[in-house]
Amino acid sequence: MSAPRGQFSSNIGFLMAAAGSAVGLGNIWGFPTKAASNGGAAFVVVYLVLAFLLAYPALMAELTIGRHARSNMVQALRGISTGPISRLFGSLAGFGGILVASLILSFYAIVAGWMVAYLADPFASLLGADGAAAWLTGNSVGRNLTFTAIFSGMTMLIIAAGVEKGIERWSTLLMPSLIILLLLLIVYVLTQPGATTGLEVYLMPDFSQFSPKLLISAMGQAFFSLSLGVGTMLIYGSYLSQQESLPRLGALVTLIDVGIAFTAGLLILPAMYVAQEAGTQIFSAGGELIAGPDLILQVLPALFDTMGTAGLFVAIAFFALMVIASLTSSISMLEVPVAFSIENLGVQRRLATPLVGLVIFAISSVIIINFDTLFGLVVSISTEYGQPLLGVALCIFAGWIWRRDQLLAELQKGHPGIEKSLFWKIWPWYVRIVCPLLILAAFAQSVL
Ligand code: PFF
Repeated sequence: MSAPRGQFSSNIGFLMAAAGSAVGLGNIWGFPTKAASNGGAAFVVVYLVLAFLLAYPALMAELTIGRHARSNMVQALRGISTGPISRLFGSLAGFGGILVASLILSFYAIVAGWMVAYLADPFASLLGADGAAAWLTGNSVGRNLTFTAIFSGMTMLIIAAGVEKGIERWSTLLMPSLIILLLLLIVYVLTQPGATTGLEVYLMPDFSQFSPKLLISAMGQAFFSLSLGVGTMLIYGSYLSQQESLPRLGALVTLIDVGIAFTAGLLILPAMYVAQEAGTQIFSAGGELIAGPDLILQVLPALFDTMGTAGLFVAIAFFALMVIASLTSSISMLEVPVAFSIENLGVQRRLATPLVGLVIFAISSVIIINFDTLFGLVVSISTEYGQPLLGVALCIFAGWIWRRDQLLAELQKGHPGIEKSLFWKIWPWYVRIVCPLLILAAFAQSVL
């Protein structure tokens, strides 16, 4: 007998957890900087369209399969298979999902570790511990290992507590805090000199930058932002009660994700131009807006430094926001291999979590030690190849392999009258034909 499965206690709990997974560094850091370097509002418009036309239908495939199967990705895909070949394909995609989720977590925890170190930095400054402050922002291997370990430990503590007491409780606490911090920071930054230039760069569309590259970049961003392909949303769907409407909850998760990404742009772009006004370089030698780690780890801290004591509090609020956003995402990634270990290998959650967590931390450590060769490679393999290809596999499972009557029956649960909706008329065909073709086309463009 296996242990009883966890379940979210309410639809709000699910919503906070799924939106928490979706809202992360991808929204607050990735989205605004991609928008700024790809034509501002032109990118925003393309992203919005893709999020609803491509990412939302793919998200629905994961949620529907997950809630029906009530199990992790490997078991779920095998369970809805109809023959030995599709079962083999299901195992491959399922294990692929576990591997890619673990790889994403291994680099995500490093970046999140930087955020924890930068959150600790103003406290060290306040205490007058200048040596410690310099170490915290010094980018040494020791610093990176320490803070990746701290962040991974926090992730493990939440996951070890289980679905309701860990994932749901913490997401419900952290997501509203994230929104409050984000809004406070926006209000503060928008009152600083230079902010309106940033708003213009963000909100004035430059459609001349529209290109296949922009489309692909927006699709990758949408997939990463909605945590698609790796079984995170599938496993969260599997903890959702049958009384809830999947299309509605999925749409809400997408709206919250897109809404917070857009709102974060109202913070990051104005903040960059405020920094410029205060004398910080925000363009690279090649004339491009600084978007990578230098933005978060140099441009913004330089800005906070010019703000005197207020800057210490702004820095604390900003890096607390980043840590919170990272944590609600990292727990969803760790849950993927942990749920597999519990359900398929029979290991108890309290043991499975540290075991899996340590393996992933070991991968992070190898990346930290060989940062220049491995970091970009792992990001690229997992997010540019892994996520879209697994997304196609999930659409094929929902659209072609899974028995149609079962798929439709799952959609009807918790949503009386769905037969009259547009969703019912469009989605089952859409996920079968349009979704996989669109993803594959964009994928081919980007890698060929
Ligand atoms: N959606 C997260 C973000 O935007 O930062 C990243 C992410 C979380 C990707 C969970 C994949 C995943 F399974």
